[in-house]
Amino acid sequence: MGDQAKLSAGGADFEYPVLKGSVGPDVIDIRKLYGQTGKFTFDPGFTSTASCESALTYIDGDEGVLLHRGYPIGQLAEHSSFMETSYLLLNGELPSKDELATFENTITRHTMLHEQLATFYRGFRRDAHPMAIMCGVVGALSAFYHDSTDIADPEHRKISSHRLIAKMPTIAAMAYKYSVGQPFLYPDNKLSYTGNFLRMTFGVPAEEYEVIPAVEKAMDRIFILHADHEQNASTSTVRLAGSSGANPFACIAAGIACLWGPAHGGANEAALNMLKEIGTPDRIQHYIDRAKDKSDPFRLMGFGHRVYKNYDPRATVMQSTLREVFEALNVTDPLFETALRLEEIALSDPYFAEKKLFPNVDFYSGIILSAIGFPTTMFTVLFALARTVGWVAQWNEMISDPGQKIGRPRQLYTGPTQRDYVPVDKR
Ligand code: CMC
Repeated sequence: MGDQAKLSAGGADFEYPVLKGSVGPDVIDIRKLYGQTGKFTFDPGFTSTASCESALTYIDGDEGVLLHRGYPIGQLAEHSSFMETSYLLLNGELPSKDELATFENTITRHTMLHEQLATFYRGFRRDAHPMAIMCGVVGALSAFYHDSTDIADPEHRKISSHRLIAKMPTIAAMAYKYSVGQPFLYPDNKLSYTGNFLRMTFGVPAEEYEVIPAVEKAMDRIFILHADHEQNASTSTVRLAGSSGANPFACIAAGIACLWGPAHGGANEAALNMLKEIGTPDRIQHYIDRAKDKSDPFRLMGFGHRVYKNYDPRATVMQSTLREVFEALNVTDPLFETALRLEEIALSDPYFAEKKLFPNVDFYSGIILSAIGFPTTMFTVLFALARTVGWVAQWNEMISDPGQKIGRPRQLYTGPTQRDYVPVDKR
């Protein structure tokens, strides 16, 4: 028998199996706890709870390690492409040349949207946040692609996964085009996944759009950096929505809604807005002091992480990609200097050192995305686009698990105990 964890409750002793993963902390299997003890565990925010078994992504937050199917994020960012990383996440292994070509071809051939969806966009106000449009349009896909919503059929699951990954750049670019009042552009199958997205976003029908290879490479790398991140809030949302048997388009729309929040995917937008508000390096100390002040709700956006208690490895790649983009476009941004100085001051401050708060993936991404030409409102949309592959891979993993159950947490109830209804004229 393997390791057991002992627990005493209500005067009796209980033993629970300790399960071992391939790497990382062991977990105590408490599935029988309620049946045996009549007690639940209490873990708001899931800080000590593994919600599922997964073979996709591993994070060692203390060491700053992020692996997809075992491959370090730094190696994937340097040598792989977003399409190859997507194949890896979905299928478990890196593809052969032929497998990659077939996968890219399949994704390319699913990039067009049902024409009727273009009219759906026109129902939104022009000043709608593109994330609001994304939530609506992605949810609406289930009303258009009925032939891929039977989640019990692996072929349906595969087609809906490919559709979601393929259509997300088209949906995102259209959300942008709608907000600036320019015509939608159809996908161009000659271009790469990322090149196509850049053209649909920044091109116009009146002119030939030339994809700048360095920008295409940087954008593709940014997509790789956001592809998956274990059981974060939006991924857990997708899994929870999917656990009831909801169709994949609805589940991914739920993930997008969760990602929108400023503590999660919305942090890149918030980080850039914060850097703009700080403006020049001489004002940094004031904001550092505010971040440390418990009576002030202000936090340094792009700093800190639930899992990383070390430098986020994605932030390292992001910083070097930023320099490459500046060089390729021959631009610079004074906010980069402010960001570098802010990082330096924060990292030498005991408050941030003690709490192990380091820059996360969002700290530098906003500066790169603005240099490429995206407005801040599009930042989280780009995160959603890339994370779709992670959501879809995690959703597939969950549905394929024969032990899968509907997610149904319990609670510690602190409300009134039973009482009798009093008619309104007697209250
Ligand atoms: N600035 C100042 N103080 C902070 C910050 C920050 N950015 N982040 C955490 N702290 C403090 C917090 O006040 C708390 O202090 P104390 O223990 O004295 O109460 C301590 O550090 C622990 O923070 P927490 O909120 O309990 O930690 P958490 O794991 O619940 O939160 C977080 C993680 C990412 C929500 C938080 O660090 C944060 O709000 N960061 C800013 C938003 C951000 O950059 N989010 C992007 C995350 S990476 C992208 C993604 O995966 O979506």
